[in-house]
Amino acid sequence: MLHGRRVVLGVTGGIAAYKAVEVCRRLVDAGAFVSPVLSATAVRFVGPATFSAVASEPARTSLWEGPEASPHTALGQRADLVVVAPATARLLAAYAIGMADDLLITTLLATRAPVVVCPAMHTEMWEQAAVRANVETLRQRGVVVVGPDAGHLAGGDSGLGRMADPADIVAACVSVLSAGEPGDLDGVRVLVTAGGTREPLDAVRFLANRSSGKQGHAVAAEAAARGARVTLITAADLAAPASVERVDVETAADMEHAVARRGVSADVVVMAAAVADFRPKAAAPTKLRTADGVPDVVLEPTTDILACLGEHRRPGQVLVGFAAEIGDPRPGAQEKLRRKGVDLVVGNDVSAPGVGFGHDTNTVVIVGPDGMELNVGPADKRVIARAVLDAVVDLRSTM
Ligand code: CTP
Repeated sequence: MLHGRRVVLGVTGGIAAYKAVEVCRRLVDAGAFVSPVLSATAVRFVGPATFSAVASEPARTSLWEGPEASPHTALGQRADLVVVAPATARLLAAYAIGMADDLLITTLLATRAPVVVCPAMHTEMWEQAAVRANVETLRQRGVVVVGPDAGHLAGGDSGLGRMADPADIVAACVSVLSAGEPGDLDGVRVLVTAGGTREPLDAVRFLANRSSGKQGHAVAAEAAARGARVTLITAADLAAPASVERVDVETAADMEHAVARRGVSADVVVMAAAVADFRPKAAAPTKLRTADGVPDVVLEPTTDILACLGEHRRPGQVLVGFAAEIGDPRPGAQEKLRRKGVDLVVGNDVSAPGVGFGHDTNTVVIVGPDGMELNVGPADKRVIARAVLDAVVDLRSTM
């Protein structure tokens, strides 16, 4: 995907620097020639030897060392992409005001290549007006900002500020670099849903499920990288490529309305979301008090969005569903394929250890017309996404 592309990987000083090694490895695996540039504080977290071992050339840490007379212009001029992961508040500020005081920032200022930054910091810092303003400035200048995600932070805290997943960062790099290149989904309108919906019980509680949204986001990123015009309707707090139109939703009803507005015009719909099948009939407007006793919750069914799409589909439209099953996913996936009137169903066994809900990897069976059954994985969710879209492309070629 990145074969022959030159990528400068900037790493700045945050605990997420250890995950930058994984970003580096994934970039190399995708075929990129990776030049790591570490800030002075990054090396306090991870040493240059680690990056040198994984990357395509030795890691650099200074403006004043290395074979070239002018390393920052050499790196900046020949780069096809510069990605900074993690990007600290200091890096964002220095880049926004053009304060060229180390090799990484001088490289950022000396390049005309697209730039991706992946902020990582504590929630309080991320929410600071100064940081928000710097990020906004960079965005307006065309810098692609990936993440941060919500999750565990340094020092046992949790909240928004965790660096985006290495797989999502590399997917963003692929998407930025392939913008403008024709792909096998070039111009195809792809609608993807992702994440688990939340159904309010009262003002503070909700019914939810274990879906992380990673698989749906991977499908959206992969479709965008292959040239599709992607709309992602998501209930997950995860990054999405900048080229994707993103619609955030919370409940099954929100998702139903969002899909109803956009589904008709889509050429391909991939329903990867774990939409609640039931919701409380009436959510209490205030917080239910324990003193009032155990609430008598009455549930009602939600609309089956995928089945509705199957019923009213446009000729030529491809519909893909997902089936989270316990044990062998094939019978359940086959049954949903028929019942919901769709073209493909991606089934997985959610009871299998180490894959599926919340993980970066998945093992699936893709079932389709004429008894088609394709086993994929265990593999990165991006690889699963690729296999699903390959099946979609195959199907469209027969229509
Ligand atoms: N789906 C949907 N609308 C719903 C529920 C599910 O569009 N209200 C979609 C999901 O996005 C997914 C597929 O349908 O693509 C999953 O089917 P579903 O019937 O939810 O699976 P289960 O609830 O696991 O089915 P069952 O209870 O029949 O095993």
